[in-house]
Amino acid sequence: MDQIKIRGGEKLNGTIEISGSKNAALPIIVASLLTHKKVIIRRVPDLADVRTILELLTFFGAKLNIQSGIGGKVIEIRNERIINNKAPYELVRKMRASVLVLGALLARCGEAMVSLPGGCAIGTRPIDIHLKALEKLGAKISLEDGYVKAEAPKGLTGSVINMPKVSVGATENLMMAAVHAKGETVLHNAAKEPEIFELGCFLNSMGSRVSGMGTDKIIINGIKELSETDFTVVNDRIEAGTYAIAAAITGGKIRLEGVNIEHLGSLFNILSKTGVSIIKDNSSVLISRDRSILPVDIITEPYPGFPTDMQAQMMAFLSLGEGTSKITENIFENRFMHIPELTRMGADITQVGSTATVNGVRKLKGAPVMATDLRASVSLVLAGLAAHGETVISRIYHLDRGYENLVFKLTNCGADIKRVAGV
Ligand code: UD1
Repeated sequence: MDQIKIRGGEKLNGTIEISGSKNAALPIIVASLLTHKKVIIRRVPDLADVRTILELLTFFGAKLNIQSGIGGKVIEIRNERIINNKAPYELVRKMRASVLVLGALLARCGEAMVSLPGGCAIGTRPIDIHLKALEKLGAKISLEDGYVKAEAPKGLTGSVINMPKVSVGATENLMMAAVHAKGETVLHNAAKEPEIFELGCFLNSMGSRVSGMGTDKIIINGIKELSETDFTVVNDRIEAGTYAIAAAITGGKIRLEGVNIEHLGSLFNILSKTGVSIIKDNSSVLISRDRSILPVDIITEPYPGFPTDMQAQMMAFLSLGEGTSKITENIFENRFMHIPELTRMGADITQVGSTATVNGVRKLKGAPVMATDLRASVSLVLAGLAAHGETVISRIYHLDRGYENLVFKLTNCGADIKRVAGV
């Protein structure tokens, strides 16, 4: 298995073009299942998770045409006939987002089976909210040999659904399920993430009647037929945030091109409190740091709060702070698996319950480390960029799931980083 080797200490300097958003592209690709018409999706990042979801669609009968395009792949999808409506364990276990096919397949075929999901090991990650809400739309849900079976042979019926907890995936699943339901569906306590807004825009580009996306009340009026569409995926706010921290942690200066600045409000707010300079200019932003890192307290929350997907990267950064920072993880109970690895690199971090106390140290030291989930992996890359000596990161397949051309983008800014065949 490949490894990443980093010789740290270089101040990064240059420009990075931000790719299309993984978490926006995945549900949009899945939503193509709702129509038999041609769907074109542009600026799709070339990532393992995208390949997994496309493999799943092919398994259901999709015909794909994939071309290179500006800022990512252009994927033409035709789901003319669904030949299979069971998502197998071998594919679902690779990526939790596969559970999103439940709503779309149920809406299209009146029946769907999905293996219980796998994905990043950052907690128990149940799907009870998805299932209860689908039941409210009239689906019959049962569990068979590790598979969830959803049936609605006469179609789904719109309903008012109060989500007990804010869930990105459940909101997306429900939006897709409700597109062909009879009448109106109202989702209360819906997730407000930009990726939800994008999914709503994508569905509407096919003629769906979705409103309120981006707020906590989404209304979907069901329709029978959707039309063709040609849609471009938004930029990846988490990728942008990660490279902002690459600039900050190395005391360098990076211009991020193709950024939706308003999607990064909470991160930029926190970063400026630590002393990082952020100069915004339409769709680009210049990030630099020339002073010491001030400690700051962070609590992860649903959007527009501080994203859990930036927590590990921020922890790597604050481990070099001048003082003590506290990071509370409110979304996933087990999302601190980067702590022991950062500690191996000299960080001083202790965890009690859902709060990590990060006592800043003067320097990090390169070490062999192992990544355990996507964002934890990239936090080790960031730590390695700032550390003295060599860091060797194993199990980098997690990085391949979520960061397009990571080594290339960082090398272009002067990082000493390479991918090598593992021993
Ligand atoms: C999505 C993102 C992930 C991000 C997360 C939170 C994708 C592909 N993944 O994941 O990168 O970290 O949002 O912003 O877009 N929960 C339940 N029952 C459910 C569903 C969720 O208890 O049925 C809980 C989860 O365990 C978690 C919380 O709700 O504690 C939020 O999870 P959710 O928003 O659903 O995350 P995902 O959609 O899986």
